[in-house]
Amino acid sequence: MGTPILAPSMLAADHTRLAEDIKGVEQAGCSWLHVDIMDGHFVPNLTFGPQTVADLRPKTKLFLDVHLMLDNPQDFVEPFIKAGADQVTVHVEPDYDVSACLSKIKELGAKCGVVFNPGTPVDAVEPYLDAVDIILAMTVQPGFGGQSFQASVLKKTAQLAAWRQEKGLDFRIEVDGGVNAENAPDCRKAGVDTFVAGTAFFKAADRDAFRLNIESLA
Ligand code: DX5
Ligand code: ZN
Repeated sequence: MGTPILAPSMLAADHTRLAEDIKGVEQAGCSWLHVDIMDGHFVPNLTFGPQTVADLRPKTKLFLDVHLMLDNPQDFVEPFIKAGADQVTVHVEPDYDVSACLSKIKELGAKCGVVFNPGTPVDAVEPYLDAVDIILAMTVQPGFGGQSFQASVLKKTAQLAAWRQEKGLDFRIEVDGGVNAENAPDCRKAGVDTFVAGTAFFKAADRDAFRLNIESLA
């Protein structure tokens, strides 16, 4: 299991002062930033486009973990990687060629991963286990920050961890949605090594302590 990494979600930042808020993420000692891209179709909300990532890229060394919540992710992996995404994750629910999309992400030089919603069986990601750097298990229905963590998803991350061990693979296991200091230890026990947190990070009184708390989980 990989060392724990906290990936604060930019969705919970102040969108009129992203650069300053991202400096705050660096000052808290974080190495990753989670960037949520929504299309108003696959999920009922809109967020950022490739230009936001391109404009942030020269301002930060953070590893940009770009989560595409789009009906047509295959059309956007290239613009986001050219803009500076270090990793791109794509949902398995829309109808497109997921394997081809993962190959394209790798050819373009970024890390790749698949994402699945709380209502999607874990079997849906099994075909991609040896093709990905990371698997993201949504712990809320995607679209909005500030929702409650769905603990039932941890059965699925435990299954991913079991597959990872059986098959001798080393993909990371990420959770996203409602993650906080209270549920992070249960996530860790269920095989999670990558923790997205929007609200809990940006509202924490001491963000450095919040990060340390997560990244020191055994
Ligand atoms: C939800 C997004 C999340 C969101 C998490 O659709 O994918 O990344 O920012 O926010 P919190 O941590 O507030 O649930
Ligand atoms: Zn996300």
